[in-house]
Amino acid sequence: MAEIRRVAVLGCGLMGSGIAEVAARAGYDTHVRELNDDLAARGLSNIRKSLDRAVDKGKLDADTRDATLARIHVTTSLDDLKDADIVIEAVTEDLELKSGMFRTLDQLCGQDTIFASNTSSLTIAEMAAVTQRVDRFVGLHFFNPVPVMKLVEVVRSIATGQHAFERAFAFARSLGKEPVEAKDTSGFIVNRLLVPYMLDAIRCLEQGLASLEDIDKSMTLGTGYPMGPFTLCDFVGIDTLYYIAEIMFEEFREPRFAPPPLLKRMVTVGYYGRKAKVGFYDYRGDSIVPTALGSQR
Ligand code: 3HC
Repeated sequence: MAEIRRVAVLGCGLMGSGIAEVAARAGYDTHVRELNDDLAARGLSNIRKSLDRAVDKGKLDADTRDATLARIHVTTSLDDLKDADIVIEAVTEDLELKSGMFRTLDQLCGQDTIFASNTSSLTIAEMAAVTQRVDRFVGLHFFNPVPVMKLVEVVRSIATGQHAFERAFAFARSLGKEPVEAKDTSGFIVNRLLVPYMLDAIRCLEQGLASLEDIDKSMTLGTGYPMGPFTLCDFVGIDTLYYIAEIMFEEFREPRFAPPPLLKRMVTVGYYGRKAKVGFYDYRGDSIVPTALGSQR
């Protein structure tokens, strides 16, 4: 099996920076591409913060942090990714954007290079279809926060070859993750179950079942979930959840995947969750408090 030495990551946002961090920590020469210098600098700074945090917690020594950072190279050019053995795409959930990058890289990268997408809801087949390597195209779906969450869904499309699948599966394991195999249907395993759960929580709020805080409290204290559904929605990103729901609804045409009106309104007014400092909760003050959305009741 051809060895993977050089990893390319497309996008250095929340997921891309986490993927680059775990790849570099596992010893891979890691090249991350962002759209412009500002975004690249911000992404690198987030990786540095995450590594510093691990050092502060005694989970990493300073020399290993420095060696990890030295393995990460940020660029704004797709050309710099041409020698990668695996390309992992982690950009916005937009098929045209992703397909455009894969189309370009298909011309630049070698025949053995595996293409992978970290998509949460698009199918692998529709991205692979724009390339000449449908058999060397997989899904590698990581979870937020990437350095902490152990799971990676390794997705096999109907055209993925066995060899590429095995290489990708072994690669996920080499990052210290626990890979599982999933079929190429929108949302794979986790989001197929998690997204309707989060959307149902929003419907419960819309219908006045209970307050936002009490719904969150019920799911943490009653079932042991680490976060209640509204805290999780804010953590994932309200805009991201909305786009995922739209794509899953388009795929399955089942009401349980349809984005509730409140979710749509929140996207309209920019209540994107934690990253915007306002979502179901308000993160701007000294303590985190629910926004006025509870008064929907
Ligand atoms: N980066 C790196 N490490 C982080 C981190 C981050 N962003 N956030 C937390 N951590 C680490 C902490 O350093 C700490 O490590 P330690 O136990 O070794 O000291 C550990 O995680 C626990 O952190 P905290 O004590 O600060 O906080 P919590 O105990 O509340 O845990 C959490 C935080 C791990 C985020 C936990 O609340 C959790 O597991 N939440 C659920 C997350 C989840 O469901 N993720 C999946 C979202 S869905 C998704 O990503 C799919 C996509 O397609 C939508």
